[in-house]
Amino acid sequence: MQHPLKHHLTLTLLALTSLSHFPPASPLTPCRTLCGTTAINYPFSIDDGCGAPQYRSMMNCTGTDLFFMTTSGRYKVQSIDYNKQTMVVYDPAMSTCSILQPHHDFVMTDVESVVIPPSSDTVFALLNCSIDSPVLNRYKNLCFNFSGHSCDELYGGCNAFRVFRSFTNSSPPCCFTGYDTVKYMSMNILDCSHYTSFINVDGLKGIGPADWVYGMKLSYAVPDTGCGRCTRSGGACGYDTETGVMMCLCSTSMNATRECGKKLILD
Ligand SMILES: *[C@@H]1O[C@H](CO)[C@@H](O)[C@H](O)[C@H]1NC(C)=O
Ligand SMILES: *[C@@H]1O[C@H](CO)[C@@H](O)[C@H](O)[C@H]1NC(C)=O
Ligand SMILES: *[C@@H]1O[C@H](CO)[C@@H](O)[C@H](O)[C@H]1NC(C)=O
Ligand SMILES: *[C@@H]1O[C@H](CO)[C@@H](O)[C@H](O)[C@H]1NC(C)=O
Repeated sequence: MQHPLKHHLTLTLLALTSLSHFPPASPLTPCRTLCGTTAINYPFSIDDGCGAPQYRSMMNCTGTDLFFMTTSGRYKVQSIDYNKQTMVVYDPAMSTCSILQPHHDFVMTDVESVVIPPSSDTVFALLNCSIDSPVLNRYKNLCFNFSGHSCDELYGGCNAFRVFRSFTNSSPPCCFTGYDTVKYMSMNILDCSHYTSFINVDGLKGIGPADWVYGMKLSYAVPDTGCGRCTRSGGACGYDTETGVMMCLCSTSMNATRECGKKLILD
């Protein structure tokens, strides 16, 4: 009869050998690396305890679609560029050239507005502003000349915004501005009834608003916490959900402080 311990060892060795035959495509860590077709890499995560703690609870995966959660709503993630460290999101409740939606604000959490704010490649257009709006008076320097585009172009060239002209037969004021303006002033304070935002703004000179790409491009920084070392050792970067201290998640049953050592698995 085989010694039970020997039998156990054989099984363990078998398990280890068969594991090493599979590429790391089926990750052993508790961190999912895909949502639909979008890759989920550090610093983001869709599982609590994975990714960087600063980005905790920002993403929600419905199975097929990835959403970026803000104070003002769930924005659909269109793409993430891990090299350029940008993420393009689209707010389904935002007005665009083709659809007018009820008035609302864009509000990020305090942490989001620091670690993943809209980049300078995102321009906000404040629309249907009253003549008393701060951006026409005290804060008029917050509005800039956006590649020579005018309010009339938006009110005239967009089906959704034509209605703003219909009351007075003239164009109410508008303002092209950056994220900081909407960050510090709500639409009520700005005294503009709507906003829209668009991206890839460097290429929009001479192109009408019907052809702009609506949405926001967010720009993020990757915290330098030695994640590369963990991933190279086969782990996934995560953190202790109670303390927020970085951890290297090696398997569903083992976490390391820095990297997954093969020695530790065999111990
Ligand atoms: C490893 O860390 C993850 C994420 O914080 C946690 O869910 C899991 O329970 C930890 N596992 C062990 C064995 O400590
Ligand atoms: C994701 O969103 C759904 C629907 O709003 C919600 O029920 C769920 O709790 C969210 N999940 C996370 C992890 O926030
Ligand atoms: C435009 O703004 C005025 C207030 O300045 C508001 O009464 C009107 O409803 C707005 N138009 C639309 C279509 O929301
Ligand atoms: C805005 O900039 C364009 C060049 O992009 C220039 O032709 C135009 O005169 C400027 N408009 C104003 C009001 O400064």
